[in-house]
Amino acid sequence: MKKLLLDVDTGIDDAIGIILAAKRADVVGITTVNGNTSLDYATANTLKVLNLIGRTDIPVVRGADRPLLREPHFEVSVHGNDGIGGALKEMDAGEPASGFAPDFIIEMAQKHERELTLVLTAPLTNMALAIRKEPRLRDWVKEVVIMGGAVRVPGNITPTAEYNMYIDPEAAKIVLQSGLPITLVGLDVTEQTLLTDVEIGRMQGSPEGEFVKDSTGQYMKRYKEITGIHACAMHDPLAVGVALDRSFVRTGRLHVDVETNSDLCDGQTVADFSNWTGKQPNLDVCLEADSGRFIEYLVETMKM
Ligand code: BDR
Ligand code: CA
Repeated sequence: MKKLLLDVDTGIDDAIGIILAAKRADVVGITTVNGNTSLDYATANTLKVLNLIGRTDIPVVRGADRPLLREPHFEVSVHGNDGIGGALKEMDAGEPASGFAPDFIIEMAQKHERELTLVLTAPLTNMALAIRKEPRLRDWVKEVVIMGGAVRVPGNITPTAEYNMYIDPEAAKIVLQSGLPITLVGLDVTEQTLLTDVEIGRMQGSPEGEFVKDSTGQYMKRYKEITGIHACAMHDPLAVGVALDRSFVRTGRLHVDVETNSDLCDGQTVADFSNWTGKQPNLDVCLEADSGRFIEYLVETMKM
């Protein structure tokens, strides 16, 4: 089984990604960060999801409660006030493990040297802090899979920026320029990877399936307002899927940088397809996904 560490801002699709990872991989820990919702909600939601699936053995460690330089910006219209659309309201969250997420990332990377894949499905604040503190992460981490960015399609929070990149672009710049072996799973592929009522119907009969149904109502309504399609994009679950099985996507090796100094374009991921910059490629960027096969795998996993 692959060893994964997840960094999340739970978030409806983070929650589904957590369930997928917990069922299909050896998850050594989950770190939380400000993003879709506050750090407190993101942490409580993560603990509740683990409680739901009987995996309270996975340690959850809190991280940054704000971006490096900017103010938080919550996506209430998609994820609800509490981050998971009001689902699991009655469930007891319990307590997170002690410690600070960037330190925990460093500790786990050293402990599982060259075995650990980091799956980052949130603003990259924790990872940037970890990289700044411990440059040897480059030698210790096997792979980093990031849900973020958009290289050939528009943004989902501004005309040009994807949410995770937009919230903390300075952190994203540090991470993308770190020299770590990174795969970027952006909107180019995640917006093709949709869960509809049909698949949610097929998941019913398990607590996981009910959670997906309860949590995605508002998300689907909002997605329909924006795109005209009654569905929800499986951004973060696809990133987990790519960490588990690379064959879900086709990637290209590209130089990608993040804009941090433009009112119009902050958070935009700019990919150099024609080598205008002359810079060496720094990322594997997902350009196509076998979305149908991935969604099928997700549905089957939810029933496991
Ligand atoms: C990303 O932003 C968040 O709203 C989702 O959880 C996902 O990580 C998609 O742009
Ligand atoms: Ca997320």
